Amino acid sequence: MNNRVGIGFDSHLLVSGRDFILGGIKIDFPSGPQGHSDGDPLVHSLIDAMLGAAGLGDIGQMFPESDPSIQGRNSTELLLEAYNRVKLTNLRINNADATIYADEPTLGPYRKTIQSNLTDMLGITLGRINLKFKTLEGLTFPVTPGTRKVIASHAIVSLEFNDNAQNS
Ligand code: C5P
Ligand code: MG
Repeated sequence: MNNRVGIGFDSHLLVSGRDFILGGIKIDFPSGPQGHSDGDPLVHSLIDAMLGAAGLGDIGQMFPESDPSIQGRNSTELLLEAYNRVKLTNLRINNADATIYADEPTLGPYRKTIQSNLTDMLGITLGRINLKFKTLEGLTFPVTPGTRKVIASHAIVSLEFNDNAQNS
């Protein structure tokens, strides 16, 4: 068996006065995800999925919130650091898929920009990361009706051993 898979999930409240960063890209919106780092839920779910596939625990173990250096940090830097650790175990990304849940903003127009930002950074081809967007029909995630706005992301990552890799 040469493939490994992992799942990841993350959610953040959307609050005013924060940049809305998704997949490392700034989205034009008046509020943004609350969090210790930039609160990027797509990147956080990808990190957890990748660490899960590699058997390396979770994001909180690798990047503890108690560590002041995480404060305000660009999450894509954490993704790169996590992927570098994963690569030390002779694994590399086969493909990743994510669903981002948000009533607002409409994220479809940013799909290609986010995809290429992530794939360029990770050194893989564009088609290896797929992004999907879903509304929540005014519900907080997962099912409780409420007024607080959230953004959430589910991700799955498949890793393969280098010996088994075809092309990038
Ligand atoms: O959630 P729903 O099925 O209504 O979403 C329909 C389509 O709208 C999605 O498949 C996606 O392409 C787009 N969408 C988006 N940004 C969101 C939510 C949905 O672009 N925040
Ligand atoms: Mg819908």
